[in-house]
Amino acid sequence: MITLRDVCKAYGQFQVLSHCSTHVAKGEVVVVCGPSGSGKSTLIKTVNGLEPVNAGEIIIDGVSVTARGTNLSTLRARVGMVFQHFELFPHLSIIQNLMLAQVKVLKRTRPQAHKKGMALLDRVGLVAQAHKFPGQLSGGQQQRVAIARALAMDPVALLFDEPTSALDPEMINEVLDVMIELAREGMTMMVVTHEMGFARKVANRVIFMDRGEIVEDAEKNAFFDQPRSERAQQFLSKILVH
Ligand SMILES: Nc1ncnc2c1ncn2[C@@H]1O[C@H](COP(=O)(O)OP(=O)(O)OP(=O)(O)O)[C@@H](O)[C@H]1O
Ligand SMILES: [Mg+2]
Repeated sequence: MITLRDVCKAYGQFQVLSHCSTHVAKGEVVVVCGPSGSGKSTLIKTVNGLEPVNAGEIIIDGVSVTARGTNLSTLRARVGMVFQHFELFPHLSIIQNLMLAQVKVLKRTRPQAHKKGMALLDRVGLVAQAHKFPGQLSGGQQQRVAIARALAMDPVALLFDEPTSALDPEMINEVLDVMIELAREGMTMMVVTHEMGFARKVANRVIFMDRGEIVEDAEKNAFFDQPRSERAQQFLSKILVH
């Protein structure tokens, strides 16, 4: 579903991504972790063309993200992205937030978009909030809306960049629960997160990045039980002690 081949990216002299290659199969959940500044956000943003690359190739569902002439807005409509800071439109109600791109990009009628939006709000447990504005919802609720908004586009895959790291601790699980359910339903997902409990529960593989390189790309249990590289061992010992 998602293939990266030798992806390189630099900001001036600074190499943010060096020869990153991986493959995410349909229905697979891949967790991306690594120290701050290692290139996780940049990697995930290159996947749906939010960040251009200097070299290498990215293919999603048979369509090249990196080839010239690819319509990036069509592609982005097919790959959902959920960020740390929900990025809902503050002046639109929750249901309007869910309808907007369905109507503008997918050309659904307003009744169709409304129906789909309400069904997704039901799925994330927020039907009662449909007519409120984002500012009236908790962080956990807003993030669930952001996930529903991504799902409204019938994406072929979902990308997450630290979806729970801006949330108060008591709200983390309500968001992770939605993600766990999506994973179990077979959604293809790439998730940048430090939630190793989530990784252990639903990830198929873990990618560990350091200094712009994919240092490990391993089956989940292999990664947690026997990380090959010293850098991954150090990283795990730091984040798993608490
Ligand atoms: N627009 C930019 N211009 C220059 N350097 C950048 C830019 N965006 C990111 N970087 C640098 O690229 C490196 C990787 O950044 P990135 O945000 O991908 O890291 P990250 O692994 O997501 O870190 P974090 O865990 O803190 O979110 C960092 O050193 C960062 O300073
Ligand atoms: Mg980041």
